[in-house]
Amino acid sequence: MNKKISILMLVIGLVFIIKPIFAGDVSLLNNQLMLTPNHGGDGSAWGQAECMNCHVLRGIHRTAPAIKPIVQNTGYASCAGCHGQNGTAIKRECVLCHNKQLLPKSPIMQEAKNHNFKLEQDSVLTDEDCLACHKSSDMDGKFEPKIDLTHFNLKGLDLPYQSGSDFCLRCHNQDNQQVGYTMQARFERDPLVKMALNYKHLDYHGTPKGGGNRTYTGLRDGYSYKTNVECSDCHAMHGTHNEKLIIDRTDAGVSLLNDAIRMQPINVHIEEGNYAQLCVTCHQSVHDVEETNEDAGNGLSGVHQVSGSCLDCHTHGMAAQTGL
Ligand code: HEC
Ligand code: HEC
Ligand code: HEC
Ligand code: HEC
Ligand code: HEC
Ligand code: HEC
Ligand code: HEC
Ligand code: HEC
Repeated sequence: MNKKISILMLVIGLVFIIKPIFAGDVSLLNNQLMLTPNHGGDGSAWGQAECMNCHVLRGIHRTAPAIKPIVQNTGYASCAGCHGQNGTAIKRECVLCHNKQLLPKSPIMQEAKNHNFKLEQDSVLTDEDCLACHKSSDMDGKFEPKIDLTHFNLKGLDLPYQSGSDFCLRCHNQDNQQVGYTMQARFERDPLVKMALNYKHLDYHGTPKGGGNRTYTGLRDGYSYKTNVECSDCHAMHGTHNEKLIIDRTDAGVSLLNDAIRMQPINVHIEEGNYAQLCVTCHQSVHDVEETNEDAGNGLSGVHQVSGSCLDCHTHGMAAQTGL
């Protein structure tokens, strides 16, 4: 037999032998925590609701030190949160662990407003809300849009997300809204339903690029005029006190900002259409014009017109020289 082919066959053989030993269906190695109908090796454990009957708490998660203590602490009620329902109707709990006491920063969600899928109502996020956006997170402490965010289809296809913004746009668009999450435009060019158009064709923070050579030009360390700014750099999903879910602290957004500033964190307070405290976390004019040397109220300076509403000139979908 040809030498190359026999080496190839040896490698393929090894892969088949090694794979089941090192990577079961469930493992961090392949970002997959959800149980499958093979559960138990032969499927005999699929459809069973009482994890306790077969798994001893102390014995599990020896290879997952970040998970072991918190599962020990919260017990069998936690299992389905990470491993799925195992073919039953058991509840998948999230807030059991993701709360102020156990995981206060993961995510930050102490404030009243959040993305609860209801525009007019502020209510705490429920397990159901979490699951809408994070159907099968691998909870490895690293946020990856492709793995940790629910796969919403695009015109019937499950295309991977290139960025977190792709995820938002699978719902906030006009022609491909998701069943159960449809939205009505409140006014012309409402970002709720026009963000796909805005982000891909009109907004500077999305695909259309600004020149970076304007009167108030200048960005803080971490951002450049080539960057696509993510929706969640400006909008908080889990908790903020600001209207329109604008972040209220830098460590809950502005993901690329130099940590020396981001992690302080800088507070962001929005009132009556004045977004200066948001814009100034990334923008820092290199020239002194129109109050750009004035404190926006959160310790940073660098944007023009720091008082008054910005809405006349800067909103999503504004195609003129200003915009967002
Ligand atoms: C009837 C016994 C039984 C019940 C009930 C049971 N399991 Fe299992 N489970 C097994 C066996 C057997 C295995 C395979 C041996 C092993 O890895 O421990 C297994 C493996 C697993 C694995 C690793 C799977 C893999 O493919 O790598 C996970 C995760 C798991 N069980 C979670 C659960 C959860 C969560 C529940 C409750 C919803 C549950 N089990 C209920 C018997 C059971
Ligand atoms: C916070 C998420 C999380 C929760 C909650 C959780 N697990 Fe796991 N579990 C994991 C991860 C991650 C692995 C994979 C570890 C690896 O690949 O090294 C795993 C692996 C397992 C395995 C495979 C063998 C092993 O011990 O690593 C079993 C069995 C298991 N879990 C059972 C359970 C049971 C029973 C519960 C409820 C008491 C539970 N898990 C709750 C994250 C979780
Ligand atoms: C509308 C969708 C949405 C909802 C609802 C949602 N999330 Fe998220 N989550 C995201 C997005 C997008 C990110 C990444 C950007 C970020 O960190 O805000 C994220 C990031 C996270 C992170 C990792 C980043 C961090 O801040 O530590 C955790 C943990 C998390 N979410 C848990 C939850 C839990 C728990 C719930 C329910 C209480 C929930 N999420 C509800 C969309 C959502
Ligand atoms: C047993 C406790 C526990 C339960 C239950 C739990 N998580 Fe987690 N989760 C964790 C831990 C621990 C991390 C890692 C946090 C870190 O290191 O920042 C995590 C991380 C995450 C992340 C961040 C992305 C990543 O890969 O680390 C998301 C998103 C998340 N969880 C969502 C959920 C959702 C949704 C549920 C319910 C379906 C849930 N979690 C249930 C403990 C839990
Ligand atoms: C599964 C679909 C879905 C996804 C994914 C989604 N949204 Fe939403 N979003 C909604 C719905 C539904 C509403 C409420 C609309 C209503 O009540 O009319 C909403 C409302 C909003 C609002 C207004 C909330 C308020 O209280 O003012 C903002 C801002 C928003 N979403 C931004 C985002 C961002 C940013 C992302 C991605 C990180 C995202 N959304 C992902 C469906 C979604
Ligand atoms: C998370 C960081 C961040 C925040 C917050 C932010 N921007 Fe930007 N902004 C950028 C980056 C990066 C660019 C360059 C992207 C591009 O032009 O393609 C930019 C570009 C712009 C441009 C186009 C500049 C040009 O040269 O054409 C305008 C106008 C603008 N931003 C206005 C605002 C306003 C108004 C706010 C507050 C509501 C704001 N930005 C908040 C990062 C941010
Ligand atoms: C009357 C209209 C108007 C108002 C109101 C206004 N701006 Fe602007 N803004 C502009 C124009 C015009 C430009 C672009 C200037 C140029 O082309 O040289 C601009 C540019 C910017 C930029 C982009 C800087 C860069 O990188 O080029 C930021 C950031 C910004 N404005 C923030 C704000 C903030 C914050 C407010 C409210 C507190 C505000 N603006 C209110 C007209 C306005
Ligand atoms: C540079 C910061 C920034 C980025 C990036 C950004 N937004 Fe916004 N968003 C704002 C500001 C400021 C407003 C308020 C002005 C307006 O309504 O246009 C807003 C308003 C909205 C609203 C209207 C909320 C309401 O209650 O009326 C929605 C929906 C929204 N954004 C969704 C998104 C989505 C989806 C993305 C990403 C595709 C995104 N935004 C990216 C800053 C941003």
